Amino acid sequence: MTDERPQDLSLYMRVLENMEEAVIAVDDLERVVLFNPAAQVCCGFSERQALGRHLADLFSDQSELLSMTRTVLETGRSFTSHEDVLLPRYLGDPLPVGLSVAPLYSLQGRLEGAVLILRDQSQVRQLEDTVRQADRLAMLGTLAAGLAHEIKNPLGGIKGAAQLLDLELPPESPLREYTTVMTREVNRVNDLIEELLDLARPHPLRPGAVNLSRVLSDLVLLQKQSYPNKSIDFQMQLDPSIPPIRGDESLLVRLFLNLLKNAAEAIDEAGTVTITSRVSGQYRINRSSDQRPVPLVTIEIRDTGRGIEPDALDRIFTPFFSTKVKGCGLGLAICQKIVTDHEGFLKVESTSGQGTVCTVALPMHRGPFQAGA
Ligand SMILES: Nc1ncnc2c1ncn2[C@@H]1O[C@H](COP(=O)(O)OP(=O)(O)OP(=O)(O)O)[C@@H](O)[C@H]1O
Ligand SMILES: [Mg+2]
Repeated sequence: MTDERPQDLSLYMRVLENMEEAVIAVDDLERVVLFNPAAQVCCGFSERQALGRHLADLFSDQSELLSMTRTVLETGRSFTSHEDVLLPRYLGDPLPVGLSVAPLYSLQGRLEGAVLILRDQSQVRQLEDTVRQADRLAMLGTLAAGLAHEIKNPLGGIKGAAQLLDLELPPESPLREYTTVMTREVNRVNDLIEELLDLARPHPLRPGAVNLSRVLSDLVLLQKQSYPNKSIDFQMQLDPSIPPIRGDESLLVRLFLNLLKNAAEAIDEAGTVTITSRVSGQYRINRSSDQRPVPLVTIEIRDTGRGIEPDALDRIFTPFFSTKVKGCGLGLAICQKIVTDHEGFLKVESTSGQGTVCTVALPMHRGPFQAGA
């Protein structure tokens, strides 16, 4: 070789070993000749298990991956799949990956194999899901707010009429019981409507430095006293090194209170609620105002309660969806709004009968905070 490229082969190996993308090279007979560490994580085989094996042995159920590789070996041209390829995993859902296959030429220009590059798309898909969920909520919020606005006026009329009636009735009249019920129920509907309007109204955040560990510890202290008839073990696993984040403390208190209440309410007699916080290095987001990636603080609230049925899981963020006798079904919708206003995301995973994990990820803002619209 007469070119300027580094002759040190170990440099190429180190690059391949440190890449986040899975790289698999095959020879012209589709036998694996290179399988980097990311490929081992992504596909669940060790390098030893993979080297020398035929691609069809390793990926027998991946017809797209096999046919793309074959086409590249036949045509000598690169291909990229438009859809994610789903790789099965021993634990959990299949891993969605983006796949590109490129031809591998020898120095003499002979087609001697192909290189497959697989990119883990799970975090991208997860973020897309969260955005879809937030969009759906925003639409519903606007619709409900319009309706709520229309209801408020006649409701005011009913309340006024009930109060007038109350004044007309003699103090000892048994009918006063009815006017009291009317006023109380109208007030209840009014409170509900206020909550709903609150959800759709743009809220300027009042940001400040929030010490999440303190907020969570205070809330847990309160929750411990709130369920005297249940035996709930609250476990705190907070990372003390997390610096204060910029956020609206009263809204963040409301967010975590709703999630802790849901966790405690899901426990029938006895169970555990575990609260974990950490800085999650692998998640990063781009803020629209500032293209630098921002690390996220992740707070996880895990309970061993009754869990959520799969068909209900799709609806828990919908305003007024509740499976509780006394629930009004606004808790999670409010949580979603607060998290979105803080440019974070909220995820709920649950196994019916076993428990639920709510994960809140909030950006660790360093510069001036952009108040949510
Ligand atoms: N940790 C959890 N475990 C089990 N089910 C949950 C959990 N969190 C939420 N849910 C389910 O999601 C539904 C909606 O929750 P959400 O907090 O929005 O409303 P709610 O708790 O019913 O009423 P409220 O407005 O008082 O919060 C609940 O009724 C419950 O079925
Ligand atoms: Mg709730």
